[in-house]
Amino acid sequence: MRTKNNSRPDIRHIIAERVSRRGFLLGSGAALGAVAAQGFVGSLFSGAAHAQDASSSLKFSELTRVFDDKHRVAEGYNASVVVGWGDPMKAGDAPIDVGTMTAAQQADRFGYNCDYVAYMPLPRGSQTSDHGLLCVNNEYPSFNVMFPGVTEDDSAKLTAEQVALCNMSIGHSVVEIKRVDGVWGVVQDSPMNRRFTLETEFAISGPVAGHDWMKTSYDPEGRMVRGTNYNCGGGVTPWGTVLTCEEGASDTFGGDIASTPFADVLERYGYDGSDYYARAKYDPRFDMSKEPNEPNRFDWVIEIDPYEPGSTPVKRTALGRMAHEAATTVLNKDGRVVVYMGDDDYFEYVYRFVSEGKYDPANPASGKDLLDAGTLSVAVYNADGTMNWLPIVHGTGPLTAENGFATQADVLLKTRLAADALGATPMDRPEDMETNPVTGRVYAIMTKNKKMTADKLNAANTRPENFWGHIVEMIPPGGAGADADHTADSYTWDLFVLAGNPKDPATGATFHPATTENGWFVTPDNLTFDPKGRMFVATDGANAFDIPDGIYGVDTEGPARGLPKLLFTCPMGAEATGPCFTPDGSTLFVAVQHPAEDSATLEEATTRWPDFTGTNLPRPAVVAITRVDGMEVAS
Ligand code: FEO
Ligand code: CA
Ligand code: CA
Repeated sequence: MRTKNNSRPDIRHIIAERVSRRGFLLGSGAALGAVAAQGFVGSLFSGAAHAQDASSSLKFSELTRVFDDKHRVAEGYNASVVVGWGDPMKAGDAPIDVGTMTAAQQADRFGYNCDYVAYMPLPRGSQTSDHGLLCVNNEYPSFNVMFPGVTEDDSAKLTAEQVALCNMSIGHSVVEIKRVDGVWGVVQDSPMNRRFTLETEFAISGPVAGHDWMKTSYDPEGRMVRGTNYNCGGGVTPWGTVLTCEEGASDTFGGDIASTPFADVLERYGYDGSDYYARAKYDPRFDMSKEPNEPNRFDWVIEIDPYEPGSTPVKRTALGRMAHEAATTVLNKDGRVVVYMGDDDYFEYVYRFVSEGKYDPANPASGKDLLDAGTLSVAVYNADGTMNWLPIVHGTGPLTAENGFATQADVLLKTRLAADALGATPMDRPEDMETNPVTGRVYAIMTKNKKMTADKLNAANTRPENFWGHIVEMIPPGGAGADADHTADSYTWDLFVLAGNPKDPATGATFHPATTENGWFVTPDNLTFDPKGRMFVATDGANAFDIPDGIYGVDTEGPARGLPKLLFTCPMGAEATGPCFTPDGSTLFVAVQHPAEDSATLEEATTRWPDFTGTNLPRPAVVAITRVDGMEVAS
């Protein structure tokens, strides 16, 4: 997630804002009182299950936080770089000083700002845990620490070559990796290594394909898009494809929304013509005044088949248009496929897609195009602990032609407006969602919301000026694990944890009482589960509290429910993201995104992680966390 300077307009792409350290806590003292007054505190600490002396099921020795230029991992673990920005992915390419890299070279090398990570075992369908494909989102370029003499507000200074390099540095990278003698490395000459960038062609499928608003001079049929952007969260399907989420293109276009025939829609999606990456300066397709339909072709979920390097990736429009974060899939017990999704912006919503057709694990081909037809719905959280999924279906409720929704394609192009009309619950910036494989419960992270005010609080978002974030727990009916019915119209829900420093009453944090000085966290962003159902949370934004971002293991069940333990920390400026286990739980991959991004310029970089040599630039990279004794990471 790109950090955002407070001086820029708030309608830009949403990010962990750069706030002056500490200063932002002023005025938050009313938070706890407001929480209590609302009576919305979850049941986490009710009952005897939270005895003070409860111990975590995670037995590792908790890491001590150090906020400096290095990464750290708990004693007894290794955390080593697998692949990072600019690393070669093609036979014959040599390692390179990324400070000298050209756009053409970047096109064949590992991308920038690694985010969501999927480990896909080789061969396809196996559970192999020492050989697979690492599929990694590359969210955006941090040009202030890629090129000398450029601050984050200086994109107008970027040359055509620098902008071209940035455009080739984003998207997605697929690399074959192997673990040999305990160490993960890239198979550089693998034919499956592949880059997706702002120049890659993507097919458009689902109800919106061919819609008039999707047609451009490059693509008069509205069925083929060049490029992907802000690839943030993601997911893996039961048939072995990867879903990559486009998280809001609003600040990546120039021009004037008023010159388009759908200014109200672009305004609702935050388009401001700021051309933050100077793309429009060099390419008219990013100028909305010249190519008004181009913005409509971003902000979708894309399906990639990493096992088929010649395959065309597909933008699946049935999953809705939003600042997509997470596309977590569940194979429901009846064979339908469910995708949980967040829309990461202030007061946006939590969504779910249920496929119309069914997936047959004995016939992987049955997954093809399954995500093109189904029901998208949006969440309402009620104060009585129940929640409802409201279908976003043309012709139902207010979603009619009289209200501006002529077809289902129209509804999907205006997903946010449709959800507004239905009365969905506005959330504190929904980021990742994951399902606990053991309990079947679903967790949705709200990273934070500084704009929340007392008059806007609701059952699931209980703190004004929520600088700390929280995690919502959703409980489908039907039973635990595979019995859970992820297609039901109604669930129950709870507040799993309100983040923040428990020693500061103003935060209203609700971690387990045994949480240590190193264990509490703020600004949760991504999460995953180990095979035994323990949650691992990645944070984005902790630097504003003078602590590093990192990875925390948390029990969700038993006497230590809600007790986090610190496993890993990032160097300064970086967020931890993309946590992903191998099937056997022996490796936890973590993406260290935007190291040193907090620096004004490259010359003042707060870290030169991970190389620390000579003139080397800071490089975002994926780290493999393993135990020295070879046991499961979550031992
Ligand atoms: Fe790219 Fe919402 O984090
Ligand atoms: Ca984030
Ligand atoms: Ca994120």
